[in-house]
Amino acid sequence: MRVAIVGSGRLGVPLGRLLSTGGHEVFFSDADPSRVAAATAATAGRARGGTPSEAVRFGEVIVLAVGWEAFRAVSAELGDALSGKIVVDPSNPIAERDGLAVVVAVPGGLTSPQYQQRVLGEEVRLVRTFNTKYSKELLTLGTVGQRGGARADMPYWGDDDAAKKEVVPLIEDAGFTAIDGGGLSEAR
Ligand SMILES: NC(=O)c1ccc[n+]([C@@H]2O[C@H](COP(=O)([O-])OP(=O)(O)OC[C@H]3O[C@@H](n4cnc5c(N)ncnc54)[C@H](OP(=O)(O)O)[C@@H]3O)[C@@H](O)[C@H]2O)c1
Repeated sequence: MRVAIVGSGRLGVPLGRLLSTGGHEVFFSDADPSRVAAATAATAGRARGGTPSEAVRFGEVIVLAVGWEAFRAVSAELGDALSGKIVVDPSNPIAERDGLAVVVAVPGGLTSPQYQQRVLGEEVRLVRTFNTKYSKELLTLGTVGQRGGARADMPYWGDDDAAKKEVVPLIEDAGFTAIDGGGLSEAR
């Protein structure tokens, strides 16, 4: 599958590496082009790289590996390019304030991905996953699973069953056992 990663930081890079190793075509992008070069190098040149707009045109599935509060900017920058696309949301409601990570209260009594769905628009086919492991742990556990070792569970949630079905092979090929957690209202 063609997977676009928007945000080539601590989570996007190891996730893209796992997906590339798992046999998928990965396209890294970031606001900072130097991060894209480092990300593609981390896959020994197997992955491609470019701008977020190019990534979204390339991807059948788009992973938004940007900070929780950056979803609004990404949505504004990409316009309706995300409309109808399967978008993986690994974002946790954490923001940086004066150099410190602080937990953000999600407005409106919504779960985090319900909120991000509103930010991105209802036409986006949002699936929440890859949010429950720290990035280094993700790479270590996924690599063990890909090499035939014990697989860690990876929960996923969504309101679009067809989109969830498309994302399950990505979770499995990244080295995890995909666990259906239900709809976005049940998401962690
Ligand atoms: N790190 C983890 O262990 C972990 C675990 C689970 C879930 N997550 C979630 O994964 C998401 C990414 O976290 P992270 O730790 O990887 O953050 P990060 O290291 O800061 O990486 C995010 C990247 O996205 C870029 N970016 C920001 N706005 C952008 C935009 N509009 N277009 C394109 N790129 C943009 C950032 O560039 P700038 O720095 O220039 O803004 C940065 O390179 C977060 O929502 C986080 O909650 C992270």
